[in-house]
Amino acid sequence: MKKDLLEISRQARALLQDLRLLGVGDLVMSSPRAVPPDLPVCPLHVTGVERGGRVLCRQETLEEIRAELEDCRRCPLCEGRRNIVFGVGNPQARLVFVGEAPGREEDERGEPFVGEAGRLLDRILFAMGLRRDQVYICNVEKCRPPQNRDPRPEEIAACEPYLQRQLAAINPRIIVALGRIAVQSLLREQSPISRLRGRWHTYQGIPLMPTYHPAYLLRNPAGKREVWEDMKQVLKRLREES
Ligand code: URA
Ligand code: URA
Repeated sequence: MKKDLLEISRQARALLQDLRLLGVGDLVMSSPRAVPPDLPVCPLHVTGVERGGRVLCRQETLEEIRAELEDCRRCPLCEGRRNIVFGVGNPQARLVFVGEAPGREEDERGEPFVGEAGRLLDRILFAMGLRRDQVYICNVEKCRPPQNRDPRPEEIAACEPYLQRQLAAINPRIIVALGRIAVQSLLREQSPISRLRGRWHTYQGIPLMPTYHPAYLLRNPAGKREVWEDMKQVLKRLREES
């Protein structure tokens, strides 16, 4: 009996070593008691979420992703920022809005869309019958670019994995991409926003509606009519999917 146990233990250790050799990294070993019963069994190849060499057998949470960004220095925007602007709202939101990058007020408060453009976004939400805490709001770029210049491709690339993980953690029914930078980085599309908006696209299997950015609407109020057309399509689809 004792010999059997020793053999099982030896086999288990060898299996872990093999997995490590195959690049699976440190498996997070939980005692059976620590695993809530509703966790999916985690197949060895992909279904686990691999982060920092660990395979997690469940979807990571927004708070875990936020914690990883703490004090981020992965791109030069960290030099000028005051706060990382991660995102706000309902972690289980059915609808997510993705903007471009924090501006001055967002940088000061650590919250997206709290300046003039944000107040317009709040009005759009109100018109849709939604409140801020019912949706989720974030940006492609989590740190403020100096003088609000466009984020550079390498800055977008550094931040992109975090947006991808955020969207995977929320798994919304619909994504609204606000403005050119959000649309182009989520869809890998160079066409102008005026051509992309108003029609459904997909991001990782999730329906995505591009529309004009609220800051653009502040300068070009005539575009509000088109944004409202786009938001009506979003509301219709949200209703159909519930
Ligand atoms: N513009 C954006 O794109 N995002 C914000 O958070 C604020 C303004
Ligand atoms: N240009 C942009 O960058 N965004 C818009 O929403 C419209 C024009």
